[in-house]
Amino acid sequence: MSLLRESIHGQWSSRWAFILAATGSAVGLGNIWKFPYIAGENGGGAFVIVYLLCIVAIGVPIMIAEVMIGRHGRQSPINTMRSIAIGEGKSSYWQILGWSGVLAGFLILSYYSVIAGWGLAYIFRSGSGVFDGVTSDGAASIFNGLVGSPESLIAWHSVFMLMTMMVVSRGVRGGLEKAVRYLMPTLFVLLIVLVGYAMNSGAFDQGVKFLFAADFSKISANSVLIAMGHAFFTLSLGMGAIMVYGSYLPKDTSIAKTAFIVAGADTVVALMAGLAIFPIVFANQLEPGAGPGLIFQTLPIAFGHMPGGAFFGTLFFILLVFAAWTSSISLIEPAVAWLVENKNMSRQRACFWTGLATWFMGLGTVFSFNIWSDVKFFDKTFFDLLDYLTSNIMLPLGGLAIAVFAAWTMNTVTTRSELAMVNERSFKLWRFLVRYVTPVAVIIVFLNVVGLLDFT
Ligand code: PHE
Repeated sequence: MSLLRESIHGQWSSRWAFILAATGSAVGLGNIWKFPYIAGENGGGAFVIVYLLCIVAIGVPIMIAEVMIGRHGRQSPINTMRSIAIGEGKSSYWQILGWSGVLAGFLILSYYSVIAGWGLAYIFRSGSGVFDGVTSDGAASIFNGLVGSPESLIAWHSVFMLMTMMVVSRGVRGGLEKAVRYLMPTLFVLLIVLVGYAMNSGAFDQGVKFLFAADFSKISANSVLIAMGHAFFTLSLGMGAIMVYGSYLPKDTSIAKTAFIVAGADTVVALMAGLAIFPIVFANQLEPGAGPGLIFQTLPIAFGHMPGGAFFGTLFFILLVFAAWTSSISLIEPAVAWLVENKNMSRQRACFWTGLATWFMGLGTVFSFNIWSDVKFFDKTFFDLLDYLTSNIMLPLGGLAIAVFAAWTMNTVTTRSELAMVNERSFKLWRFLVRYVTPVAVIIVFLNVVGLLDFT
């Protein structure tokens, strides 16, 4: 039995609504913006293989665990962790996991919104035709012009934060379910068009080779950590987003099947983004390790040279913003749900305060691309540091704790009945993965980075 029959925040209308919302959360800037640039910075192939391994061996089992915990607890991650732990006769300190998730979501959203703001700005740039016939230098200077202007970045960041808080304040079910239903498939089709363009760019082979030919000598302990961190980031794991979505899931849905669909869709989108981008990078003698501006400096070249490019470009950036939008709402939902549950606040009020705080924090990222670009902490700009801290440290640690909680702290009788797997073998396999494989893998990767273990 779940602790509550239904969450006070409502419930998805069906299993498909949950799949769409969870896919909406997973597929975002992580797939289209971040995956290509970190794959580029970490040498391609070998990095991609490690990332794929992490998705299968760590990501999917943890996603199953997170949805299961959420549906069992039916409250915000903080209260869910607390009440399940108490119910199992364990320490209420487990709620710390909920708190660290809220903090991670807040920090991620603060920069996520700034990058989504770039996407917003690019909708209008491509709509106005400035990419027509653009060269690689031209595309770079358009990009640098944007990130060099704090005023524009603040304006777009503000618009995106408003969009996010508007949806969250209406509750997860209103509007959103419908939006994802149409936008996700359209995004997919457009990616196919872009891959088609890349195939004819003259450097498709080179792009494919870069993405899939594994040369393990190129990989360092730190790139393994980045690949693992990205597996958490791209699947929205380790901070309660998927847990809170799970808490709105109807009782009779198969969690494991759902997790496979979500993880599969997410991976396909990331690989397609890579296949669309790298051939263009090589065909135009661009640098695969160009960093966060990569897609903003490569795709405009493709759009600038294809028939109907202004139209496709505008559409692409609209879809990118939508993908980011359906992710950003899940980043802040755990915090909002907690405020509503514990502080007796209305959803609107909770949204206002969390949105304002996140907006303010986002200014750090805005300035890290211009007036603070020389301010470094541990050799990283404010944005890089925030990204490293959240994706590579907070999310994997959160995921590790979720695995330990689901496999060691929760009772097997409870987890078995909540998951209701098709057979005992699948259940045992899942439990083995979250009990041993996931925690050990995360710990090894950490030890390897701090130099206590050396296998790379
Ligand atoms: N998965 C999202 C993306 O790839 C980002 C995200 C991370 C969303 C963590 C929610 C929680 O863009």
